[in-house]
Amino acid sequence: MKVRVSAPGKVILSGEHSVVYGYPALVTSITLRANVTLDNKVSGLFVNPSFARQLVSEGLNKIDGILGVKFNNLKVNIDSEIPIGCGVGSSAAVAAALSGAVLHLKRLPFNLKRINELAYEIEKINHGNPSGVDNSVSTFGGFLWYRKEAEKLKILNKVNPLKMIPNIVFVNTGKPKETTGEMVSFVSEKYIRNKRIVERIFLNIEKVTRGFLKYLLKEETIEFSDLIKENERYLEELGVVSISVKDLIGKIEKIGGAAKISGAGGLKVNSGILMIYHPDKFKFLKFAKEKRLDILPAKFSAKGVKIERK
Ligand code: PMV
Repeated sequence: MKVRVSAPGKVILSGEHSVVYGYPALVTSITLRANVTLDNKVSGLFVNPSFARQLVSEGLNKIDGILGVKFNNLKVNIDSEIPIGCGVGSSAAVAAALSGAVLHLKRLPFNLKRINELAYEIEKINHGNPSGVDNSVSTFGGFLWYRKEAEKLKILNKVNPLKMIPNIVFVNTGKPKETTGEMVSFVSEKYIRNKRIVERIFLNIEKVTRGFLKYLLKEETIEFSDLIKENERYLEELGVVSISVKDLIGKIEKIGGAAKISGAGGLKVNSGILMIYHPDKFKFLKFAKEKRLDILPAKFSAKGVKIERK
């Protein structure tokens, strides 16, 4: 029997890093997906691409531990449109799609809450202390307000935007040298050393996150570009944006735009994906062409995990 399940990537509008410490995050799925195909008509475990073998086999062990379903014979094929390690939730999308595919293959209910729980456990393999925001938005799709109150209490609320967000472009500054886990540890060390300062940054980020929410729900007249700029400043204060990416963001602001990193960021060279707003999108696209920026063909909001093939 063969099953195929897909799940989307994500961008964080506001709340990356602070979300690990229980502050809220506002996120959305994006129109790039990871597909996981499972075929149990084989003998042994095959994983394609082979670099994903360890993650998949550890993930299957975790699923086995929770559901009690053993896999001795399985071919796992992963094909994904989501750039790896760039802050757009590639690993969480694979985790959600794999969890959904296992449930479907075993003829268990395709229950989103269950898929999310399994995907969260798989995310822990990748980086020890995830907030759970990535797997949640990949599972449920759309826009999500997320808050981790405790390991066993996570608040997830779908947000239905009353206002569309125009003129957004995503640029990939490249895969950071640091992994998400390393960036989370970097912030955690800073938090231990300068708790008061870092908590002030997190509180400021929370204000911006609430600003984005009010913007989407049309509860306040706020400039979208101001929210992006403010969010970026706090992420820079936190130290998760590399010098070259800060420089690029400065240039984008000079031509009338606003940009922020999205996700864990990066220190040495690249900082992953940039979410960019420009009132004149064509002006920005001209700039992007001149600077040879790598535009990611993605849009906000997509359906969460879903069965592609029975
Ligand atoms: O995996 P990334 O780069 O999309 O980062 C996820 C967001 C963080 O807040 C940095 C980590 C987390 O677990 O929430």
